[in-house]
Amino acid sequence: MNVDGVPTRTIRLGQDGLSVEVLDQTRLPHTVAWRRLETVEDAAVAIRTMVVRGAPLIGVTAAYGVALAMREDASEEGLSRAVAALAATRPTAVNLRWALDRMAAALRRPDVNDRVAAAYRLAGAMAEEDVETCRAIGRHGAALIRAAHDRTGRTVNVLTHCNAGWLAAVDWGTALAPVYAAHEAGVPIHVWVDETRPRNQGAALTAFELGQHGVPHTIVADNAGGHLMQHGRVDLCIVGSDRTTATGDVANKIGTYLKALAARDNGVPFYAALPASTIDWTLQDGVAEIPIEERGAEEVTHMTGRSAAGDLVTVQVSAPGSPAANPAFDVTPARLVTGIITERGIAAASRDGLAELFPDEAGR
Ligand code: MRU
Repeated sequence: MNVDGVPTRTIRLGQDGLSVEVLDQTRLPHTVAWRRLETVEDAAVAIRTMVVRGAPLIGVTAAYGVALAMREDASEEGLSRAVAALAATRPTAVNLRWALDRMAAALRRPDVNDRVAAAYRLAGAMAEEDVETCRAIGRHGAALIRAAHDRTGRTVNVLTHCNAGWLAAVDWGTALAPVYAAHEAGVPIHVWVDETRPRNQGAALTAFELGQHGVPHTIVADNAGGHLMQHGRVDLCIVGSDRTTATGDVANKIGTYLKALAARDNGVPFYAALPASTIDWTLQDGVAEIPIEERGAEEVTHMTGRSAAGDLVTVQVSAPGSPAANPAFDVTPARLVTGIITERGIAAASRDGLAELFPDEAGR
């Protein structure tokens, strides 16, 4: 998608062909800056500190992290150490484990004699695959947006939570891929962007990328969604996911569940858009089984933004001394999800629905 009119991806190889460059998302929307990753530790820090974030991008960055590690130590011990370090960075997005398992399995094949070259090749292939996967999600999801337009004859209002756009993947994104595809096909569309406290990925990242790409949108406080739905101002909700169970329960950024409840109460269709790499086929009950990341209290008690003088400043917004809790994700049960938009089509949010589209994975 575009930044300053130039098609841009979130991750790329550096000019030397070995280092990895990522768009620093801790500095958006105020500054477009690239961060160079030279070592596996750099990659792990970038994921942990959310320089890169979003389930698909976490997976691809981890894959490149393994490639960086192989340059330092391509032994079996080096590979295991790298995989363990990267796997420990963030607990909820299963794409991380998916990418690391895939890298480790490929590099352990007996016919691989140059692990460095093989690791870069596979990481690059995974980045390209992510783009195509998200493009396909966009194609399938755009049909829903077009259908809403055909039904009403007016601009389609989509509500999204957090950032599941191209900044959360390599390009296109998941929840926003249908938005971009519909927009490019000329379907009139407007996006309600939940600000997404506490880290404000909606206000900072989703608004940035939609604005850069020319998609009409409006930022709303997280608490506004129910009101907008009650007044017929949302045609459909589309969110991303960090981990989806084999039964269709969807973990996504904290607050997603409340939007699904409001959507159900108001008869608004609620979709999750995600690649197969986000489905954890080992899990049946999302609320009980999906690990939820607990992040630092300061993300709740403080906010960072740009001052009138142009400096980035962090201010405390809470009563001094009051404790704060910060669960970063919640689980929306399958019964509240209208459908799951995947690269293979739209599945019912159920074991049978997902198995119909992914028979091999479901049967394992
Ligand atoms: O904590 P984050 O910013 O990594 O959380 C991101 C989300 O919750 C996204 O909705 C999810 O990863 C899907 S990304 C296509």
